[in-house]
Amino acid sequence: MTAADGRVPVDVTPARSTDAIFAARRAHLGPSLSLSYRTPLHIVRGEGAYLFGADGRSYLDCVNNVAHVGHAHPRVVEAGVAQMRLLNTNTRYLHEHVVQYAERLTALLPDHLEVCYFTNSGSEANELALRLARAATGRPDVATVDVAYHGNTQRLIEISPYKFNGPGGAGRPDDVHVVPLPDRYRGPHRGEGPGVSAAYLADADLVLDTSVGSGRPAGAVIAEAIPSVAGQIVPPDGWLAGLFEAARRVGAVAIADEVQVGFGRVGIATWAFAAQGATPDIVTMGKPIGNGHPLGAVVTTRAIAGAFANGMEYFNTFGGNPVSAAIGLAVLDVIADEDLQDHARVTGELLLDGLRAVARHHAPIGDVRGQGLFVGVELVRDRDTREPDASLASELVNRAAERGVLLSTDGPDHNVIKIKPPLVFSAADADRLVETVDVVLTEIAAG
Ligand SMILES: Cc1ncc(COP(=O)(O)O)c(C=O)c1O
Repeated sequence: MTAADGRVPVDVTPARSTDAIFAARRAHLGPSLSLSYRTPLHIVRGEGAYLFGADGRSYLDCVNNVAHVGHAHPRVVEAGVAQMRLLNTNTRYLHEHVVQYAERLTALLPDHLEVCYFTNSGSEANELALRLARAATGRPDVATVDVAYHGNTQRLIEISPYKFNGPGGAGRPDDVHVVPLPDRYRGPHRGEGPGVSAAYLADADLVLDTSVGSGRPAGAVIAEAIPSVAGQIVPPDGWLAGLFEAARRVGAVAIADEVQVGFGRVGIATWAFAAQGATPDIVTMGKPIGNGHPLGAVVTTRAIAGAFANGMEYFNTFGGNPVSAAIGLAVLDVIADEDLQDHARVTGELLLDGLRAVARHHAPIGDVRGQGLFVGVELVRDRDTREPDASLASELVNRAAERGVLLSTDGPDHNVIKIKPPLVFSAADADRLVETVDVVLTEIAAG
């Protein structure tokens, strides 16, 4: 039997109990991988913005920006299944899907970004972007934004202050230069107005000029338009555009990491860098690009691609295979056909308004910020001192999960509630999320 929306009902009763899976995971999975929530969730199915547990409960997913067009979207699933039935192979054969996909992706980007490489993850995309930048500039050094995370390879950990300054990290390597995070709420330059952006850009200039002056010039400057793990930091107007211009001024290549924020999430543009008027030389994509299927992409200029083509082949067994390309195409179709970018804009505004209204009667909410459906709520012990309240953030997230609303925390002080749901998140879902934050904070305040 097939439901009217094309979904096929499936029996998702797991063979093992939740406890047995927990024990097997501890026995056989690497111990450096954490589980979310005080009581770990055993999820067996997803649909739209909802996840369904083995316990029969449904959960509103407010954090999964991978399931961009909704969990198990029938058109995306069908595109993958249909192509899987026909053929999957590497990109050393001619195949229509991969070229069509490259045409569709580049059509969404500024004209100068016209050459694509396909990968299997955001990490692979960023790793390749660094290789491209090094080939184009001859410089191994990289400038990165403080508290950034760009992926899980050795080199990406080395350019991710979130990791190298975090637990188990080895600190900043000599060939990595750290530009201050443009945090208008907590950083050294606060508030609104052009002066704030100029001040952060002056700091960035200093870092880049020092890299040149010390004989270790940065060959790449990599940044997210809205630094994500740093706590959903919406930079001041002009910061990203200025940073990328500063990169080119010192002879570096500007890389926009759109792994978290791309594909219409910010509502007012397809790409978050474009929403900020910035011009990158390389764009990297991941997470939402395949709606859960492992896929990533790097798009760059013909000149940079030419510099990389030095005779050594770039081969990636799975990158851009016909199944992945079919899925990527289906994701683009769904975003367009369901008008999800504009939906993100409208729903994001509702959500921000709702959260700001709640903030008026909950003193621990120090800041509410975001763009489209990429939102952060910063919790503090005191609005004047802005002392971060990580334990309240953790308690809020755990109690919300108990009420069936899934959130997460991030930021260097672990006090920012991260909100980045599938774009099919509805106005009613936004209301429910706002109400849950309100009710849980009231409950915690009551003791
Ligand atoms: C901004 C950013 N870039 C890159 C990555 C790496 O992507 P992946 O985990 O798919 O390799 C992540 C992952 O969280 C990310 O947040």
